[in-house]
Amino acid sequence: MDRTLILLKPDAIQRGLLGSIISKFENKGFKIMGLKMLQMSKDLSKQHYAHLVDKPFYPDLEKFVTEHPMIAMVIEGKDAVDVVRLIVGPTNASKAPAGTIRGDFSNSTSRNVIHASDSKETAEKEIKRFFKDNDLFKYEFRNGYYLRASDE
Ligand code: PPS
Repeated sequence: MDRTLILLKPDAIQRGLLGSIISKFENKGFKIMGLKMLQMSKDLSKQHYAHLVDKPFYPDLEKFVTEHPMIAMVIEGKDAVDVVRLIVGPTNASKAPAGTIRGDFSNSTSRNVIHASDSKETAEKEIKRFFKDNDLFKYEFRNGYYLRASDE
């Protein structure tokens, strides 16, 4: 099973979208292994968005992600990294298909409500950035039989 990191950015909280967004992952059959509210420090923003610190939009990005709380989640499931990225939609929400989270809830590149890891390698690094091992829970779904066959 893959696992991936999701951030529900401050705009998701400010706009009251948490339940609608989290339910998309629950409905798909993903398992929530960890979930917490945090407020990003400027240092954490610079780590998490290290590849973007030299971009002209970085000052706005840092202000946006540090001035209000957000939610960090780890979810686990079959092909979680790729399937979550499909459910989330592209970074530029104006081009995100209807039915994706960004397609339904945003029309912006900078206020696009959610972040999701872009590869398995990135996911492992990002999970460690936000969660200690003992903050993550391993458990079985009692209805797992109804989610997929044992050889899938
Ligand atoms: S890249 O280089 O565009 O592929 O980087 P990527 O990690 O995919 O996404 C960029 C993240 O920065 C946020 N952001 C912006 N991107 C582009 N333009 C502007 N103006 C901008 N402002 C903020 C964007 O929402 C992506 O955030 P995450 O959290 O990674 O989705």
